[in-house]
Amino acid sequence: MHIHKYERWWIGFGTIMLIVFLAIIGVAAFADNINPPSGMQQIDPTKVAQTPPFDKPGLRKLPDGSYEAYYVAQVFTFSPARLDIPLGSKVTFYVTSSDVVHGFFIPYTDINMMVIPGWVNSASHTFNKPGDYLIICHEYCGIGHQNMFAKIEVR
Ligand code: CUA
Repeated sequence: MHIHKYERWWIGFGTIMLIVFLAIIGVAAFADNINPPSGMQQIDPTKVAQTPPFDKPGLRKLPDGSYEAYYVAQVFTFSPARLDIPLGSKVTFYVTSSDVVHGFFIPYTDINMMVIPGWVNSASHTFNKPGDYLIICHEYCGIGHQNMFAKIEVR
């Protein structure tokens, strides 16, 4: 079989680049311990309702004046369904799922997460604009996916 000279060069170049890129990812992941920022905390997805703080989802105020918001995603709701957040608050969201993979997206904020059963995902946002915000499930999770949302009021 004949392979054209330039084609051989490109195959060689592509193979070398593949090895280089995989090596860089490997070094970053294992030597430098660089991993995706999410999903660092594990939870038993069958016991979410009994596991604090997810047994009582909602807002908690921290001593420094910021907030933590704990959410449970399940087909096809978020708990809590509605949350009031004081204007100007920094809120760190912690989300887990008790069944399948969901999404957790709040338009016009930095919050855009996947919610994977067995893991707690988290992200922070400071709410400097008053108004009504929607939390939207943006991972297809079943027949009622399009109805899966919750509300946040910032006043
Ligand atoms: Cu939950 Cu889509």
